[in-house]
Amino acid sequence: MSLARFGYGSCNQLMEIQQESKIIIGESYQIDIIGLTHDGEGVGRIGKMVVFVPQAIPGDLVIAKVISVKKTYARALINQMIKSSSDRIEPSCSLVKQCGGCQLAHLQYDKQLYWKQQHVSEALKRIGKIKANVLPIIGMENPTAYRNKAQIPVAFQNQELVMGFYQKRSHNIVDLEYCQIQHPLISKAVQVMKRILVELGIAPYDEQNHTGVLRHVVIRVSFSEKALMILMVTRTRKIPQLNELISRLRHEIPELESIMQNVNPAVTNVIYGSETRLLWGKPYLIDEIGKLKFVISARSFFQVNPIQTKILYDVVKKAVFLTGKETVWDLYCGIGTIGLYLAENAGQLIGVEIIPEAVEDARLNAKCNGIEHAVFYLGKAEVIAPKLVRQGLRPDVIIVDPPRKGCELSLLQTISQVKPAQIVYVSCNPATLARDLEILNTMGYAIDMVQPVDVFPQTYHVETICLMSKK
Ligand SMILES: C[S@@+](CC[C@H](N)C(=O)[O-])C[C@H]1O[C@@H](n2cnc3c(N)ncnc32)[C@H](O)[C@@H]1O
Repeated sequence: MSLARFGYGSCNQLMEIQQESKIIIGESYQIDIIGLTHDGEGVGRIGKMVVFVPQAIPGDLVIAKVISVKKTYARALINQMIKSSSDRIEPSCSLVKQCGGCQLAHLQYDKQLYWKQQHVSEALKRIGKIKANVLPIIGMENPTAYRNKAQIPVAFQNQELVMGFYQKRSHNIVDLEYCQIQHPLISKAVQVMKRILVELGIAPYDEQNHTGVLRHVVIRVSFSEKALMILMVTRTRKIPQLNELISRLRHEIPELESIMQNVNPAVTNVIYGSETRLLWGKPYLIDEIGKLKFVISARSFFQVNPIQTKILYDVVKKAVFLTGKETVWDLYCGIGTIGLYLAENAGQLIGVEIIPEAVEDARLNAKCNGIEHAVFYLGKAEVIAPKLVRQGLRPDVIIVDPPRKGCELSLLQTISQVKPAQIVYVSCNPATLARDLEILNTMGYAIDMVQPVDVFPQTYHVETICLMSKK
């Protein structure tokens, strides 16, 4: 069992948990839910055996049927709620149970924040063996309708065209009517598009037979401009009735500014193929964070919650010590947002990013915002950073904002070699953050600040900023 699954208890306590062999698959047991895993499942015990119960929350008393028993833990599904937790609320979305995208929607928002804070502290303690004072998590004032992007699979199910989200651990699509965490324009665009696709007879992709056309629709909204981009991921380059499709989408969604296509002919679960092209309008959206404007291409990463992103970037800006002379490296820079946000206080900015479109956006973003002392390199951070070091460049501040898997060890070694005065680690995964902080800690960096920010309300995800300085 991965200890990372636990949302409570010390390591020693967990080690004491013994295997209990009498638990029978298919039998139901009364379980008191006393904790929450990092991925939002309730934690209780049957005897000494730890049991994970999806959709249960601390304070619930449930009768649950055991569906699997492993060496040191079991899983069970709720049969009956004997007593509901006082923290339980009725989610505003009726599809929460089927969809699985909002794992914490049935938990009061302040308690969601409490558990996210716990999970960050626990991960640092248990995985990173780090005793750090974790600042109180910054929550969202109105924790709904915050997402600016949805990746929506399209399929025929029971003779009907559906567009929605995959059910947890399945390829069954929950048809979307309205989503409480998406910007309302996204839900509206999905409804309109579904109707038009049916009327024009454009076939969704059939993954069993590898036939049909439309695999995914990716919809992005600019909060500041109230503008939309629709990216259609198709199996074939040719889209039947394309002109009619474009004209009807434009007519029925006046906020639409861009229609793009990505062609993915492969038999694969990977969403995108290599070719992306413009079908109509502009090949990008523009959104704002603070006083900066950002160009966002179809394939570029942009934080999904622009309201909390500003708060996140403000925390970073406040945390780093910049006098106007320092060199800042923004590794995993996406379209350059964090670095450009700090650039007015920096002497030089170097960004590194792996997606070519994002690097082009970053360069354009520097230009559009009148920032001349920024350069962006295309490539892997772990490859480009050592090259920069070999060229004799030395940063004062390094920002890393990697994907969920965290940083490559070789990158952390390069960082320790160039010895920046400060490191800012922005992470969407407390487990890999803790792992990497422990490494940086042993390389001579002290943790000055850990600040969780809730960028993903209603879900188990949490963003954390950690500031480190040379000991
Ligand atoms: C979590 S996003 C952060 C982006 C940006 N800092 C922001 O706040 O919008 C991570 C970014 O790292 C990029 N990426 C993934 N692996 C990379 C690597 N090995 N080297 C450089 N960039 C990478 C992704 O394309 C993505 O843009």
